[in-house]
Amino acid sequence: MAILPQRLAVIGAGQMGAGIAQVVASSGIAVKLVDQSHQALDKALAGIESSLARLVTKGRVDAVTAEAALGRLYTSTSLEDLHDVDYVVEAVPEREDLKLRLFASLDAVAPPHAILASNTSSISVTRLGAATRRPAQVLGLHFMNPVPIMGLVELVRGMRTSEDTFRASLALAARLGKQTCVSADTPGFIVNRLLMPGINEAFYALQEGVGSADDIDRGMRLGTNVPMGPLALADFIGLDTCLSIMQVLHSGLGDDKYRPCPLLRQHVDAGWLGKKAGRGVPIPG
Ligand code: CAA
Repeated sequence: MAILPQRLAVIGAGQMGAGIAQVVASSGIAVKLVDQSHQALDKALAGIESSLARLVTKGRVDAVTAEAALGRLYTSTSLEDLHDVDYVVEAVPEREDLKLRLFASLDAVAPPHAILASNTSSISVTRLGAATRRPAQVLGLHFMNPVPIMGLVELVRGMRTSEDTFRASLALAARLGKQTCVSADTPGFIVNRLLMPGINEAFYALQEGVGSADDIDRGMRLGTNVPMGPLALADFIGLDTCLSIMQVLHSGLGDDKYRPCPLLRQHVDAGWLGKKAGRGVPIPG
């Protein structure tokens, strides 16, 4: 049977990192949430507290469990604090240069037995593994947003990921109460290979006047029974993240059908990144 980590670190205290730290702490595992910015860590802790409070109010989690989860969370601004962890989940922004540099640093500070997982939504896990001296202990552990609510974790095996690393990560996902799908290490994996071209196409439809933002989203929400239309979902995920993933699909798969929509690019250029920036695609209501 695979051994569960006793101590886990999450690197990056953004929306995803905070959500991952929350579910790990709630599952009984101690978590260090690491970010260079004190401000990001404070914001993440406040978000985790309010998310847990919401889950308590809805009766999904009891108050004692929520309090205990908060007691298992530690924050740090230094990677040096990773010296005693068994498992690391990297959740920094979706930029390959940044992740490659970080994986080399994680390899230098984490104990030799530690597994280094990436929450990347599209970047090659094999290349991340090759930036370390432990490629057999590197894999993709891709959570969905909002992490405390969504039921899936996508597992991605790199070319050199070992069976032990894979099994330990499957066991961790089960402990977190998540179901899994297993993807090959190809651009966008399963979820974003299918989801992002749909979001990109919604921007093309808006750009070409096929419908208003409201009509496009209402059409897809009610017509296909999904909780959010594609433009609202892009706002929720972050338009910069959507663009980065489309760029990875386009450069990695080559086909012009993955070309990022100019309107999506323009929104990102304007800083209209969606919910986190206070403005994205204007969708009435
Ligand atoms: N923490 C705790 N609880 C939360 C929460 C959070 N962060 N976010 C939502 N909830 C809870 C609410 O309290 C509510 O609980 P009840 O059902 O018990 O009442 C429930 O979730 C639903 O929330 P709301 O009533 O506020 O609003 P909603 O019904 O519109 O649901 C949503 C919000 C869960 C986000 C829903 O709109 C949804 O599922 N949207 C689609 C999300 C999605 O597709 N995510 C995947 C994105 S792709 C991705 O993440 C991969 C990638 O790489 C880009």
